[in-house]
Amino acid sequence: MAELMDEYGRPQTPGASGKQGGVTRRKFLSYGIGGIGTAIAAALLYPIVGYAASPAFSTGKEQWIAVGNVTDFSPNQPQKVEFSYKKLDGWMTVEQKSTCWVVAKDSANFDVFNPKCTHLGCAYHWDQNETKFLCPCHGGVYDITGKVLAGPPPRSLDKVPFKLEGDKLLVKGA
Ligand code: FES
Repeated sequence: MAELMDEYGRPQTPGASGKQGGVTRRKFLSYGIGGIGTAIAAALLYPIVGYAASPAFSTGKEQWIAVGNVTDFSPNQPQKVEFSYKKLDGWMTVEQKSTCWVVAKDSANFDVFNPKCTHLGCAYHWDQNETKFLCPCHGGVYDITGKVLAGPPPRSLDKVPFKLEGDKLLVKGA
């Protein structure tokens, strides 16, 4: 009967062979130390990788910003509203300032417009005498519903999503 030898050519004694189910003690310890090292590395890297990657996987929670009470807006009197809100920008939270035009049709129906002209993005204004939105850059003209009346704008004013909560008017932050 052939005698079992270990990796150094020494005879093996049953029960003291140094083998663990076909794996040498050296390999067993090597795997164990490797596994512990991997677990420690994963535990250390997990929070770092999670922090670095979180903005990439952020769903960008939608925000609704209160811009006034419905009673603040008189029917057919467009009103420019400035507001600010917190926004996640990459890895930082920044204060975002924004503007919109609110047009009340009555106490429950509104139009809220993006403040940029749809031609090249200039700021337009409401002219109370002409009862029109006028863009000074290239002569764009819109009516109170945002429809283009004259000039180069290719489409109506862009609308900003809004909702009413009680008597508060909220607009959606980008
Ligand atoms: S940007 Fe308003 S008309 Fe050109």
